[in-house]
Amino acid sequence: METFSNVNVAQMFPDKNFIGIDYKGNRIWRGAKTALEEGVPNVAFIRMQIETLTGFFAPGEVDEIWITFPDPQPQLGREKKRLTSLRFLTMYQLVLKPGGAVNLKTDNDGFYAYSAEQVDKLKLKLHRKTADLYHSDYADEVLSIKTYYEKKYLAHHKNINYLRFSFE
Ligand SMILES: C[S@@+](CC[C@H](N)C(=O)[O-])C[C@H]1O[C@@H](n2cnc3c(N)ncnc32)[C@H](O)[C@@H]1O
Repeated sequence: METFSNVNVAQMFPDKNFIGIDYKGNRIWRGAKTALEEGVPNVAFIRMQIETLTGFFAPGEVDEIWITFPDPQPQLGREKKRLTSLRFLTMYQLVLKPGGAVNLKTDNDGFYAYSAEQVDKLKLKLHRKTADLYHSDYADEVLSIKTYYEKKYLAHHKNINYLRFSFE
């Protein structure tokens, strides 16, 4: 669920396929242009609302999901729009293969706390959790790939929160 940093990760893992999702056309355009210019064949993009995820992917088809810097939707009445609310988690569980993980990177400490609470409340399997990725032991080659927004937040010395969890 991100665009041009998909190209970097696709270059790192040429034997895997990556699909970037966003509903904004300019983000899709940017990622697709970079992929074409750099000749990266294993990355694709879908301009869509995440709400329609299960219409695009079959049950168990997806190995892993990355949610990068989603809109935090902090207002109480907008909980159902948060990408780690029950409605979205249910969709992720459906399209993920058994044991497939969800990764979340966010600058928003409130969204991070909410997502961690969801993992706890729904008794999901927590793999990794840190409120400061780049001062933790988790910042390996893959996790250190920075999205467009991530670079902006880091330039303002914002801590980056990271969660990795699965449904079984
Ligand atoms: C803060 S930006 C982060 C963009 C990119 N992932 C990054 O890290 O640079 C949030 C993005 O989420 C997209 N977005 C928000 N809600 C969405 C939804 N329901 N379906 C698809 N994209 C969504 C917006 O269009 C926007 O590009």
